[in-house]
Amino acid sequence: MARLQIDTVSKQFGADYAVREVSLDIADGEFLVLLGPSGCGKSTLLRMIAGLEEPTSGRILLDGNDITTEAPQRRDLAMVFQSYALYPHLTVAKNIGFPLRARRRPRAAIAQRVAEVAATLELSELLERRPAALSGGQRQRVALARAMVRDPGAFLMDEPLSNLDAKLRSATRAELIALHRRLGATFLYVTHDQVEAMTMATRIALLNGGRVEQVGTPEELYDRPRTTFVAGFLGAPPMNLFPAQVVRDGETLRVRTDGIDAALGLSPGADFEPTEVIAGIRPERLYLDDAATAARGTVTMVENLGSEELVHITAGAVELCVRATRPAGVRAGEAVGLRAAPGDIHLFDKDSGLRLRWQEPEPVEMSLPDAAAVSVA
Ligand SMILES: Nc1ncnc2c1ncn2[C@@H]1O[C@H](COP(=O)(O)OP(=O)(O)OP(=O)(O)O)[C@@H](O)[C@H]1O
Ligand SMILES: [Mg+2]
Repeated sequence: MARLQIDTVSKQFGADYAVREVSLDIADGEFLVLLGPSGCGKSTLLRMIAGLEEPTSGRILLDGNDITTEAPQRRDLAMVFQSYALYPHLTVAKNIGFPLRARRRPRAAIAQRVAEVAATLELSELLERRPAALSGGQRQRVALARAMVRDPGAFLMDEPLSNLDAKLRSATRAELIALHRRLGATFLYVTHDQVEAMTMATRIALLNGGRVEQVGTPEELYDRPRTTFVAGFLGAPPMNLFPAQVVRDGETLRVRTDGIDAALGLSPGADFEPTEVIAGIRPERLYLDDAATAARGTVTMVENLGSEELVHITAGAVELCVRATRPAGVRAGEAVGLRAAPGDIHLFDKDSGLRLRWQEPEPVEMSLPDAAAVSVA
């Protein structure tokens, strides 16, 4: 069992906040990914949970017990770092068994447990080697094995795959997903790689400048981003975002700016007034269509991705990117029309960047824990 509750935790270095009033409730068995750009506070938050850094304010609870100031070795957590931090002079077997030897477990019990974990991670053939004689992926698995050997309630991982090449990365990613399923343990996983986040997470917490922008399933963040930051962070290439006006056209609403005039599939309320917004549409939800008028513009560049093409278009003052099946059949300099389904157009407040609630049939709530619901043992 490992439920982790982070209750309004902040961390200041001098006057600067690395982490600012972060609250998260991570259920037992979740695979929560902390995602965000460099410097947004991911590692600092993880290090506070591990006990390597003390919060300036707020509380951290493990299964209801306040562990905010508990020593790292007394927390039932295992941490895996970006650098494997293996002992170079010890064999793989000794590296894996290290946490148990430090706890003075009986020799025979240690040997048995090391053999079990090594088998799980397909390291049995390598137990007598030293780290220098292993590939990067094998070293990463040894670091994982060392974390698993104690059978901790939760794993904390800080960019554990970032030193691996693309192929090993995707193989180890699959291995971690399988491992999580098999162990049923809680995983808290830091990355700035959105592919890792989208494929591994049961939920993602996207951080920006030390604060949580949105918490939810990968689908929620991708399909209903709560802010323009989330919309612009997830997706490669990211969502097209541009200033526009929502205007009434008889009984319906349209989003308009120079070069763009698209139906929204919404009805105006009785007191509707034209509204300045930031509109958004994903590149894969824009379609080239000569007869279409949702947007009209000129192709500036076509990028070949192999299976697909990215078509860059200037429509009025707006730069749009379209992700189309190759060959898209257009060339730089050509005039084109674009089509978009009303439901694929996202609307955000011009000033706050927050998703506009009146676009949603049901409002999306952030799944943050209620501070009052955090129990203290
Ligand atoms: N010991 C420290 N002293 C002063 N400032 C620090 C310290 N540790 C981190 N910071 C600052 O806190 C902020 C958050 O750092 P953190 O390492 O948590 O970011 P991160 O999200 O893990 O970034 P990255 O993706 O680059 O690893 C940064 O601005 C960083 O410079
Ligand atoms: Mg970091």
